Amino acid sequence: MDNGLTVWSAEFENGVIWQDMQHRELVQAIHKLYKAIASRQPEEVVQKIVAFLYDYTKNHFEMEEKYMEEFQYPDTMIHVQQHRDFIAMLDNFEKERIDSKTLANLSLCFDLNEWTLSHIKNEDQKFAKYLIDEGGA
Ligand SMILES: [Fe+2]
Ligand SMILES: [Fe+2]
Repeated sequence: MDNGLTVWSAEFENGVIWQDMQHRELVQAIHKLYKAIASRQPEEVVQKIVAFLYDYTKNHFEMEEKYMEEFQYPDTMIHVQQHRDFIAMLDNFEKERIDSKTLANLSLCFDLNEWTLSHIKNEDQKFAKYLIDEGGA
């Protein structure tokens, strides 16, 4: 992709079906957000995608954390902290967006994408492996 965003591919799948589906959708939404900003879509369009992202990540993180608790995942703390870091990044993105700093928005959106894929490839895959081993998937 010419905008340099990392795109979804099989290497990000971890074998837990609901997680893979949600991750894919999450990354898709971030890409959509990036494109909306880059093509200077009206504010309502961008706002709608951001609202979706807040909602979707909230549900997604809650679901992962529920399974962590249920299966007593030993690395829960570091994982949950990373989820909070994502929300902080999104908050920061929103703050910048409201200040109408388009270029900052783009680079923050880029970072959101790379952060998310890195989280999926590292912490989420580690957790998924645990979940599969423990019979939770
Ligand atoms: Fe995840
Ligand atoms: Fe996660």
